[in-house]
Amino acid sequence: MDLADIGVTGLAVMGRNLARNLARHGYAVAVHNRSAGRTQQLVKEFAGEGTFVLSEELAGFVASLKRPRRAIIMVKAGAGTDAVIDQLAELMEPGDMIVDGGNAHFADTRRREAALRDKGIHFVGTGISGGEEGALNGPSIMPGGSKESWEALGPILQDISAKVDGVPCAVHVGPDGAGHFVKMVHNGIEYSDMQLIAESYDLLRQALGATPAELAQVFREWNQGELESYLIEITAEVLDQVDVATGKPFIDIVVDQAEQKGTGRWTVQSALDLGVPVTGIAEAVFARALSGHPEQRAAAASLEGPKLSGVGGRELIEDVRQALYASKIVAYAQGFDQMAAASKEYGWDLELGAMATIWRGGCIIRARFLDRIRSAYDADPTLPTLLADPTFAAAVNVAQESWRRVVTTAVQIGVPTPGFSSALAYYDGLRRERLPAALIQGLRDFFGAHTYHRVDRDGAYHTDWSGDRAERPA
Ligand code: 6PG
Repeated sequence: MDLADIGVTGLAVMGRNLARNLARHGYAVAVHNRSAGRTQQLVKEFAGEGTFVLSEELAGFVASLKRPRRAIIMVKAGAGTDAVIDQLAELMEPGDMIVDGGNAHFADTRRREAALRDKGIHFVGTGISGGEEGALNGPSIMPGGSKESWEALGPILQDISAKVDGVPCAVHVGPDGAGHFVKMVHNGIEYSDMQLIAESYDLLRQALGATPAELAQVFREWNQGELESYLIEITAEVLDQVDVATGKPFIDIVVDQAEQKGTGRWTVQSALDLGVPVTGIAEAVFARALSGHPEQRAAAASLEGPKLSGVGGRELIEDVRQALYASKIVAYAQGFDQMAAASKEYGWDLELGAMATIWRGGCIIRARFLDRIRSAYDADPTLPTLLADPTFAAAVNVAQESWRRVVTTAVQIGVPTPGFSSALAYYDGLRRERLPAALIQGLRDFFGAHTYHRVDRDGAYHTDWSGDRAERPA
């Protein structure tokens, strides 16, 4: 029997398409699924695309792989992943590689990597973005794990990844959980991008009374300029869609409660631990949560809003475009801050410009914009915030009057824009010379003797608030 170059276990749509992508690139692919029917179906339907080596049992699957073995797990993240890893590890030998291509939590990946390292097996937690279409035609791939595993896997992953200007959208992200961390932040940014797009649509529809089809055209035009991206492109498609059953715009027959599988929430939880304000992502997660409380929304539906409704004219469209662009810059600045903080905390040595490079194609947040982020980090790899990059600083400066008008209009007519508003508050907070955090420090010292630092002297101080109010070094 000919041995396979690489294997995929878990043949739901993502796994199946990844296996086909590998086969189409000339790799002999071992395939396995818990229920054998899927494996047989894959081979029956797509045998013409390349070489598949079918196994009904995991032992046969492992035996069908060339050494060192390379096996990709494409199962739903969670407890099931541990079970498959354990079974695979039992059958493997030191030097073999287990790749988890699901959306696992990076802490799980760190734990799994450490456990398998003890057995000499390389565990590679890898982010794979691009949905089913990307898995088949070229995703963005974010592998973590050891350098040795990258040497054995990298050429294959780069081969099957998306390419932008000939550059593969796959790079070794860093050790242990780095790949899944970066994929998690990618998803958090995906939440934020979608929230900002949704706010743009909502505000323009409410303020101008524009129809979904008219707004589809607006997004189509925006996609010709600096906002060009996959998500803006598909927004136009969704807004243009008409429901066959009712003849209504598709957008009006969809239940307005956004679901989530958890990666956005994980991003915010991690950001809280790292002390990084990812307010754009947090607002996006909370906006989904708010939408998902129909009982509270029904109870609040009769609460009064402002009397003002339609305001402004067509100039609001350009204002919203500017607000969307500026808020997007803020959201990415925050996401990249989070990656920088995690890199420090976990010793990953992440190269932020490389992350922007592999997000330029294949993934859900792919956009022309990522090229600008890459250039910013090329110019200064130690950039303290993307907002300090001269190109982004100038763009936000150009946008800010529009951005402020948009937030003001939204407040006046009672349309919630938490993404736009929080991004603007972050921008205004970051650029302030003095923040009211000084007052917070005073209050903390007053009620709890938590001490404070002075602007003019080193050391910590405490004022005797309940006594003579004299200051003493703490
Ligand atoms: C991707 C997507 C993918 C998934 C999202 C959806 O990069 O291909 O991000 O991973 O579609 O995780 O996430 P929610 O269900 O949480 O919206």
